[in-house]
Amino acid sequence: MKKIGVLGSGAVGKVLADGFLKHGYEVMLGSREPAKLGAWQAAAGGRGLAGTFADAARFGDVVVLAVKGTAAEEVVRLIGSDTLSGKTVIDATNPIADAPPVNGILRLFTSQDESLLERLQRLAPAARFVKAFSSVGNSLMVNPQLAGGPPTMFICGNDAAAKAEVKAILDQFGWGSEDMGGAEAARAIEPLCVLWCIPGFRENRWRHAFKLLE
Ligand SMILES: NC(=O)c1ccc[n+]([C@@H]2O[C@H](COP(=O)([O-])OP(=O)(O)OC[C@H]3O[C@@H](n4cnc5c(N)ncnc54)[C@H](OP(=O)(O)O)[C@@H]3O)[C@@H](O)[C@H]2O)c1
Repeated sequence: MKKIGVLGSGAVGKVLADGFLKHGYEVMLGSREPAKLGAWQAAAGGRGLAGTFADAARFGDVVVLAVKGTAAEEVVRLIGSDTLSGKTVIDATNPIADAPPVNGILRLFTSQDESLLERLQRLAPAARFVKAFSSVGNSLMVNPQLAGGPPTMFICGNDAAAKAEVKAILDQFGWGSEDMGGAEAARAIEPLCVLWCIPGFRENRWRHAFKLLE
């Protein structure tokens, strides 16, 4: 079974780390302050470890990037692009700006012509980034039970083998997946987080997910 390094100790990092543990993987959760992950590690049992971002990146055969969007580039610089070379990196981040939402509409720090995933891919050219888990709230990321059946996760990235690996993980996690193409498709996928959050901010509805129908 592959080892998973999860970079990010927020809700997303912990939910995905727990999802990988549930499905039998070994997981290292990474933080700038690994000492604060004691309770998570105790609950995780023997297959759950804690470390720095760099420790978790080295540990993982597959790496999950789940840090604050504004810090994502800095975290990749900090761990060093070589550490990620050849690895599949599941990029769950969104380029959400620090400015508050206006009428429920979040602001992004990227433009329509450049995504955060593309910036990260440029920083670590030998890493195999795949956008995934970015267009749904963390409470629905692992085996969501929704009336409409399995929802759709939109994914993209430049490496076909890495996308196949992520598709297999999404299958395990109860998701259908739609491959939208190369890294630049993240320009369309990342803003879905803005759309997903509107019912939440306007009507406190947070339990929905996208599904592509044909
Ligand atoms: N919340 C959701 O439901 C959801 C859904 C889809 C996608 N996302 C995306 O997933 C990512 C994680 O979201 P989240 O809600 O779990 O938590 P978050 O608060 O956005 O991120 C927490 C993580 O970011 C790290 N971090 C924060 N500032 C940093 C800095 N200046 N330098 C280095 N690291 C820093 C924290 O490090 P420490 O561990 O050291 O504290 C922590 O690991 C975000 O990009 C978000 O847009 C979130």
